[in-house]
Amino acid sequence: MQLRVIPGGKITGSCTVPGDKSISHRAALIGALAEGATTIKNFQQGADCLSTLRCLRGLGVKIKLENGLVHITGKGLNGFEEPEDILDAGNSGTTIRLLLGILAGQDLFAVITGDESLRRRPMGRVVHPLQKMGAQIWGRAKGLKAPLAIKGFPHLAPLSYRPSVASAQVKSAVLFAGLNAEGTTTVIQPALSRDHTERMLRTFGAAIEVDDLTVRIQGNVRLRGQQVDVPGDLSSAAFLLVAASILPESDLLIQNVGINPTRTGVLEVLERMGAKFFVKNERMQGGEPVADLRVQASRLKGIEIKGDLIPRVIDEIPVLAVAAAAAEGFTEISDAVELRVKETDRLKVMVLELQKMGADIKEKPDGLRIRGGRTLQGAVLNSWGDHRIAMALTIAGLIAKSETTIRDFQCIEVSFPGFAPLLRNLGACLEI
Ligand code: S3P
Repeated sequence: MQLRVIPGGKITGSCTVPGDKSISHRAALIGALAEGATTIKNFQQGADCLSTLRCLRGLGVKIKLENGLVHITGKGLNGFEEPEDILDAGNSGTTIRLLLGILAGQDLFAVITGDESLRRRPMGRVVHPLQKMGAQIWGRAKGLKAPLAIKGFPHLAPLSYRPSVASAQVKSAVLFAGLNAEGTTTVIQPALSRDHTERMLRTFGAAIEVDDLTVRIQGNVRLRGQQVDVPGDLSSAAFLLVAASILPESDLLIQNVGINPTRTGVLEVLERMGAKFFVKNERMQGGEPVADLRVQASRLKGIEIKGDLIPRVIDEIPVLAVAAAAAEGFTEISDAVELRVKETDRLKVMVLELQKMGADIKEKPDGLRIRGGRTLQGAVLNSWGDHRIAMALTIAGLIAKSETTIRDFQCIEVSFPGFAPLLRNLGACLEI
C-alpha cells in the first residue's frame, strides 16, 4: 500500500492516540502471569500487541476481546502450557524478548520466531542473562538470533545483572525471569530506560524495589489480576506533536497521553528546540502519569541530543530528525547506536530517505548531523517496512514543496492503526 502526502495544510482540533504499546504488552503479559482475571481498557490493537496476545494464546492463556476490552485469565507464575506449534512474535521485539523472560521460568519447551526484520535483531542481550539463570536456549548464530528454542526451568537461580545497553526489554526479561527465581534478582541499569514493567509489577503485587538505577525483584511472590486502563502512547503522539509544531498556524490538543518521565525525552527535546506546548490536566492512571498536551506551531531551532537522554527518546528520533530538518541551524544526535538495531537501521534509513527530499542530513557512527532550514522536495520514499520510519516520512512530506509518496505504508499498523485517517481529520491532505 502507498500513501500520497499532499503538502500544506495545518493541524488543528483535538484527538486521542491509540493506547501505549509498551504498557499494552506488559498488561497482557503480567495479566497472564497473575492469578485471577485481568481486564485491559484501551489495549493497543496494533500488530505488535496482537502478536503478544497470539503468543500467549499459544501458551494456553485464555484471552477474550469484547467491546474494546481485553479479558485475560491468568495462569499464575509458572502455569503456562507447552505450545503445540512455533510461537510467532511477528515484527515485535518487545514480544519476543519479554516472552523469553517468562518462558525461562516455565517447565516447557517452546520455539519462538518472528518476521524477517525480527530475525535480524540481536537476541544475545536477553539470551545470555536468561542462560545464566538456568534456562536452556538455542538459536541461529550461536543462539543470538531467532528462531530461538527454549527449555525453561521453574526454579531459576537469581541473578545480579548489569546489562551493557540501557534497554527496557532486557531489564524486563530479567525481571520476569526473576519472578520464578529462588531469591532476589537485581538489574543495575547503565542509564534509565522506560519503567513500565516495574510500575505494573508493583500494581499486580510483586515485591519490587527501585533504587535509582537498581531494580530488585523477589521470586515466588504471587501476582493478582487487575483492571488496567492504558494511557495514549506518547511515541505515537510524537508524530502529531512534530507535525503541529512545524506546520504554520497549527493548534492541536492531544488528550489522555502517558507522560511517564522515562518516556518524556521527546517533550524535553521539543521544548529545547523552541516548540510551544502546554501540559494540562496532569493526573495518575493506574500507576502511570497521564496528561493532555496542547501544541501550537512555532519556529524551531537545532540542538544537541545525546547521553542519558537517548534511552528516553529512542523511538522518537526518526520524527525528531524531521523536526530538525525543519528547524533553523544544526542538530547533532549522538550516542544513539541502538537505533541501528531497531526494526531497521533507523540512522541509515532516515539519512537515505530525507536526502531524497534534499535535506542536509549526514550519518555519524552513533547518530545524525542535520542542518535544518532547507526546503524539502516531494519524493518517492521507502518505509523499509518500519512503522516509525513510514510515519516520520509522512510528517516530512507535509512540509515539502510538492507531493510525496510513501511506499510500503501498511507497516504503520504495527503501532498506530488509523494514523492516516486521524491526521486527515486534523487537516492533513493524505490519500491512500
Ligand atoms: C520497548 C523498549 C525499547 C523501545 C521499544 C519498546 C519496550 O526497546 O525502543 O520500541 O516496550 O520495552 P529497547 O529495550 O531495545 O531499548
